[in-house]
Amino acid sequence: MTTQKTALVTGANKGIGRATAELLAREGYMVFAGARNAELGRAAADEMRANGLEVEPLILDVTDPGSIAEAAGRIQKAVGHLDLLVNNAGVALEMAGPAEASLAVIRQTYETNVLGVVAVTQQMLPLLRDGQGKSIINVSSETGSLTLHSDPGFAFGGLLAFAYNSSKTALNAFTVLLAKELAADGIRVNAVNPGFSDTDINGHMGTQSVDDAATSVLTPLRDSSLTGQFLGESGFLPW
Ligand code: NAI
Repeated sequence: MTTQKTALVTGANKGIGRATAELLAREGYMVFAGARNAELGRAAADEMRANGLEVEPLILDVTDPGSIAEAAGRIQKAVGHLDLLVNNAGVALEMAGPAEASLAVIRQTYETNVLGVVAVTQQMLPLLRDGQGKSIINVSSETGSLTLHSDPGFAFGGLLAFAYNSSKTALNAFTVLLAKELAADGIRVNAVNPGFSDTDINGHMGTQSVDDAATSVLTPLRDSSLTGQFLGESGFLPW
């Protein structure tokens, strides 16, 4: 088993996940870059490796239990532990509010944004227990905050996208309860808001760079006392 710090980032072939993988590798982590599509994952990892970064492509579809188990097996065989899991993979499939939202789309969104995170986390827990860093970061969104949506001044208060927003609310619930459950094991669990970023998920309407988003994603690593928190670039966010 290697003693180098290791991290798994899901959905790391593009966008915020890729920038997060890159930032972690720059900070000395050996990074497993998860990607559904083998070719896209390999191409992204090759580009990062060409810049001298230690990044291993890993086929990982968070909605496929077989793929998750295989990915965990590969990490076990390669390094035998994980110090950090970044649950980044996510989808936003429609913007409809709760009165109009399609049940099929709600299910599909939850499969990735909620059940995918639960499944990956559960499968990776033995590797995290054997690691040193013991940290899980769930990439959420401030649009999942019920407290913010109840504030008339909330900048994204008009965005009623029910499938997406409520999937992040459920992800936040997973974060709070898992943080309590894993406290005795010393595994920290936090949710982060990367900020409105320039990626495919919003048709590149986002106003900040993926590099700034990656810095926000890794906020929980800056203070080892943080667990059960929802963090963004400007500090703590309400659930
Ligand atoms: P993106 O669309 O560029 O990247 C999403 C990533 O998730 C891609 O790598 C995609 O392949 C992957 N993915 C989707 N379904 C998957 C599956 N079943 N298995 C494995 N990977 C899968 O979007 P972006 O912006 O980089 O999104 C990353 C995370 O950041 C998401 O969780 C998103 O909800 C969150 N976020 C993004 C914001 C933004 O403004 N871009 C704001 C707040 C949160």
